[in-house]
Amino acid sequence: MSFSAKSARPESLATPCLVVGIFEDRVLPALTERLDEVSNKAIGKLVEAGDISGKSGEYLLLHKLPGVRAQRVLVVGCGKAKDLTAKKYCGILTNCWKVLKQYSQQEAVVALPALPVKDCDAERRAELLARMFVTLEYQYDTTLSKKHKPFRLRQCTALLETAGERNAAKSGLETGAAIGRGMNLTRELGNLPGNICTPGYLGKQALQLAKKHQRQLSAKVLTEAQMRKLGMHSLLSVGNGSQQNSALIVLEYRGAPASEKPRVLVGKGITFDSGGISIKPGAGMDEMKFDMCGAATVLGVMPALAELKPRMNVVGVIASAESMPSGSATKPGDVVTSMSGQPIEVLTPDAEGRLVLCDALTYVARYKPHSVIDIATLTGACIVALGSVASGLMSNDDKLAETLYTCGQDSLDACWRLPLWDEYQEQLKSNFADIANIGGPKAGTITAGCFLSRFTRDFRWAHLDIAGTAWLQGNQKGATGRPVPLLMEYLLRH
Ligand code: BES
Ligand code: MN
Ligand code: ZN
Repeated sequence: MSFSAKSARPESLATPCLVVGIFEDRVLPALTERLDEVSNKAIGKLVEAGDISGKSGEYLLLHKLPGVRAQRVLVVGCGKAKDLTAKKYCGILTNCWKVLKQYSQQEAVVALPALPVKDCDAERRAELLARMFVTLEYQYDTTLSKKHKPFRLRQCTALLETAGERNAAKSGLETGAAIGRGMNLTRELGNLPGNICTPGYLGKQALQLAKKHQRQLSAKVLTEAQMRKLGMHSLLSVGNGSQQNSALIVLEYRGAPASEKPRVLVGKGITFDSGGISIKPGAGMDEMKFDMCGAATVLGVMPALAELKPRMNVVGVIASAESMPSGSATKPGDVVTSMSGQPIEVLTPDAEGRLVLCDALTYVARYKPHSVIDIATLTGACIVALGSVASGLMSNDDKLAETLYTCGQDSLDACWRLPLWDEYQEQLKSNFADIANIGGPKAGTITAGCFLSRFTRDFRWAHLDIAGTAWLQGNQKGATGRPVPLLMEYLLRH
């Protein structure tokens, strides 16, 4: 899909389809009002006749309005003008896209980014348009014998009221399209089954991205032997029971001189979490193929950066393994020595995410990072606490936590902070190692964060627990692409 922005009189545009909004409370959005005037009140008359009231979800497709060059005008209900929040706006964009799909429109001029959306400037409104339309296009069919009928809106032009807004929208469209494409890659990798998406497969994806964006990205994949040399015995212990080799994947985005400290992203890449010897119950275990969604988030963010080329350096690190039970698997009670030198008692091999992350977090200290954010489907307890609305956020830096919270609000990809107080650290005491890998049944999300905090003392660090937000369950089962928008917001605007 290709995007562009225009500011012009709506009636002057020769397009197969012009999309305008209509409010429930009689006032027409400015561009709709203009169309109404030149068309002899064609739209106002439909409202008076009761054909459309403007409620969100309603629409009318009109042909050949007098005085209007567009072949069709699609009028989309936008609800009450004063209630138009960014979330509602995204719902309206979704409705709009569905109607365009229903009528197989390949080209459209969309005036919805000209709507007055609460706390959104033209750039943001355009960004959300592109992000929504790009992500709506994605449908998983890689391992289906029948491929979905593709609907492609080839050309989408955002219509704005002024030249200034049009220019802002241009940059917003680029940002939103790049974020949308990043999310779609994150979703695709998340959705792929565990027998395809292995640690080796994720490594190949990283190398491929680096090849595709040679000037911006470089990648390397550390083998098990290389990790052993570095002392990453905690990470390696997770893959002990698996036939698949573990991997540490490093992707570097270079957008500023090497002297500039990088922002580092660390993704949990468990390509299947069986629970290991502490095997998980059968029901829903298939969903543990999504346990690499943190890694997939990193792989979605990096090409989006390569496209947008912000002036900064970003390093993405993925700690990847498959967790399986077998005669060689790590057992409850085993003690492993992490790269940091801290011995860890593995009370349960099912708390494996923190075991791979801790070594990756120790590894990234070599970058003298500006900040480090890890992204992980870490605890079922986080789903209990926050559901699928917000990702869990924990940090050793109040300012970073606040920034990430704001980024979540602004990008419609919410996160909510939980505390990492010393009282919780107590729960990780072990008689047989410096630290245990679980902290008992209470505050499971926090004690997981506390565990990671033992390996992040030397830099500004935040942890995103995406167990509840990375994928949907039920008949909508599939990866969501979160928290790519939140991280892109942080990287591009903070
Ligand atoms: N990958 C899981 C967390 C998870 C579970 C995410 C369900 C999404 C849905 C993680 O490796 C895990 O098994 N965590 C355990 C930790 C516990 C053993 C302390 C959990 O949450 O039960
Ligand atoms: Mn687990
Ligand atoms: Zn896991």
